[in-house]
Amino acid sequence: MRKEESTKHLLQKGGSRSAFSGKLGYVLAVAGSAVGLGNIWRFPYLAAKYGGGIFLLTYLILMLTFGYALIVSETALGRMTKRSPVGAFGTFGKSIPFRFGGWINAVIPMLIVPYYSVIGGWVVKYLFEYLRGGTKTLAQDDYFAGFISNGMEAEFWFLLFSLLVVAVLFAGVKQGVERVSKIMMPLLVILAFFVAVYSMTRPGALAGVKYFLIPNFENFSWMTVVAAMGQMFYSLSIAMGILYTYGSYIKEDVDIEKSTKQVEVFDTAIAMLAGLMIIPAVFAFSGGDPDTLKAGPSLMFITIPKVFASMGFGTGAGILFFLLVLLAAVTSAISLAESGVSTFEDQLGFSRHKSTLLMGAVIVLFGSASALGFGVLDFVTLLGMSILDFFDFLTNSLMMPVAALSTCVLVTRVVGLKKIAQEVEQSSEFKRKKMYGFFMRYLAPVCILIILFSSIASVLGWITM
Ligand code: PFF
Repeated sequence: MRKEESTKHLLQKGGSRSAFSGKLGYVLAVAGSAVGLGNIWRFPYLAAKYGGGIFLLTYLILMLTFGYALIVSETALGRMTKRSPVGAFGTFGKSIPFRFGGWINAVIPMLIVPYYSVIGGWVVKYLFEYLRGGTKTLAQDDYFAGFISNGMEAEFWFLLFSLLVVAVLFAGVKQGVERVSKIMMPLLVILAFFVAVYSMTRPGALAGVKYFLIPNFENFSWMTVVAAMGQMFYSLSIAMGILYTYGSYIKEDVDIEKSTKQVEVFDTAIAMLAGLMIIPAVFAFSGGDPDTLKAGPSLMFITIPKVFASMGFGTGAGILFFLLVLLAAVTSAISLAESGVSTFEDQLGFSRHKSTLLMGAVIVLFGSASALGFGVLDFVTLLGMSILDFFDFLTNSLMMPVAALSTCVLVTRVVGLKKIAQEVEQSSEFKRKKMYGFFMRYLAPVCILIILFSSIASVLGWITM
């Protein structure tokens, strides 16, 4: 009944709700949103920093249990209510906790896209330098540090990337971009595969392969769990309202369990490929130097240029690699920004034009702070972090756990596991129903509370990051 009402409301509001062309279209769209800088830039540096194989193992376990349950929940809630997060929570209640649950999910992408665009700017800069034939220059030891500490230059490339994103939103050519990315994504996989093989076969690289693939419990710390969980949210686009929105576009015939599995496999395969590209290179080119392993956000920009500089056709490979990464970044940034725009449209009643401008302003404001945070604003530290790291930490380690907890509470206390199961069973048998119930009721809340306490403890200096 509720669904019929909400659908009618949407129809009255402005035509039928957009829908994916079919099951495959849906899986590709979700995979397109999932695969981005998170896989290629973020995953390898976290794996390098937080324990290698033990990080990978923690990530895989969390993804298959907790991540799986949350994707199913968000998608089912989206399809059930035919609403984005604020509306979906609002369907079940109007009091403050419901508003809070909806809004926290909706605000997260608005805070991610600015700093995401700063990294996007770094990618554009590297692409530009490869096009100019600067393969050797980019591979120099302090090149990256010099580049980002020149805040104005980083700001310039960030603004260029943001302009691209906002222009696409204005032009409304999202569909076209998605179509292009369907061709480029497989290309990225093929290229990544070759670079990974090259990287793994460098002298000394084997130690890196071992470090990345074989769990060593000595490298375990609480931050391994915190970082792995934050990364799982980030990479699979969980706890940021996106899957509610995508779920609201699908029909009853989409097998939610199967599509979840497909997206998880694809997303993880690309992240692992990126790990195999980057981590062995750290060992081959800097002998597993702990400082390089802990380089953080800059890792991809330090090691990949060294790989390319050492190989034949390095310039061509550099151009192709950064072009494909740029594409993955643009499509992801567009879907993040699009989610913000639609929240402004739906909840504030702004026109699309005005909503896009507002989103653009948010990107420029927060993004500039992040871009300049390594240069003129480098005296600013928030909780001991640079501005960019702070936004990353705020969203991934603090806000997303709260957003995920809101979804857990909504599912277990308000909607009920039974109704979610009915929603899933509309298309197919719910094979992991029992496990799903266990994950949502016990595992997910426990994991979330662990990550929240650990994040807070690390901010207070009780545990080291
Ligand atoms: N999952 C993306 C990544 O790993 O880069 C980040 C992201 C993109 C999240 C788009 C959400 C989204 F809508």
